[in-house]
Amino acid sequence: MSLTLTWYGHSAFRLNSGDHAVLIDPFISGNPSATVSAGAVDAETILLTHAHNDHVGDTVAIARRNNATVIATAELAGWIGSLGVKNTIGANHGGTVQFTGGSTKFVPAWHTSSYSTDAGPVASGVPAGHVVRFGGKTIYFAGDTCLFLDMQLIGEEGLDVAAIPIGDHFTMGVKDAARAAGFLKAKTVVPCHYNTFPPITQDPSTFREAVESTTDSRVEVIEPGASIQI
Ligand code: NI
Ligand code: MN
Repeated sequence: MSLTLTWYGHSAFRLNSGDHAVLIDPFISGNPSATVSAGAVDAETILLTHAHNDHVGDTVAIARRNNATVIATAELAGWIGSLGVKNTIGANHGGTVQFTGGSTKFVPAWHTSSYSTDAGPVASGVPAGHVVRFGGKTIYFAGDTCLFLDMQLIGEEGLDVAAIPIGDHFTMGVKDAARAAGFLKAKTVVPCHYNTFPPITQDPSTFREAVESTTDSRVEVIEPGASIQI
């Protein structure tokens, strides 16, 4: 069984098993890297790592148009529900949630989580990473995080793919992300959360060299809008 992983730039991904599709952190409108419009993106399920605007992105519009289920940490799911999304599932670290075609297990991420509105920030719980089991594969979406030693535990999940931030400034940078790859032991590592905005400018080939010279993982650098087969 083959699974397609598409990157829209930043931390926005789509998994497509052929039968079902899942979006992760669908920040498309206002994402300078995106090559599609939010209106062209569909899925039955949307997973969120945290409430920052560059991750929630177009979640509400896409969920309402597709009647999709939004899965996030409890406070964030509740807030998304209050914005008119009918189907939400709130969970928390350590918990596994089933969705159409797969499941996700919530794991920790070291970061903050709030949404900026005209009326000020909405505090929405704490951030999470997702260990997604879908289409016969296991894919870790780290969300925004620094390096942490418990990534060794996440590596014990048996990862086919780890999508991890390398941008620095708001998350771990190239050096720490390469150390993360050593803990995660994924077959394939996909860098994300870089080159979207000036403070997170990185050369992904530097990351590839760092990972491939120190681990058994292969790095796949995806161009925004492009896909890989897992
Ligand atoms: Ni963030
Ligand atoms: Mn971010």
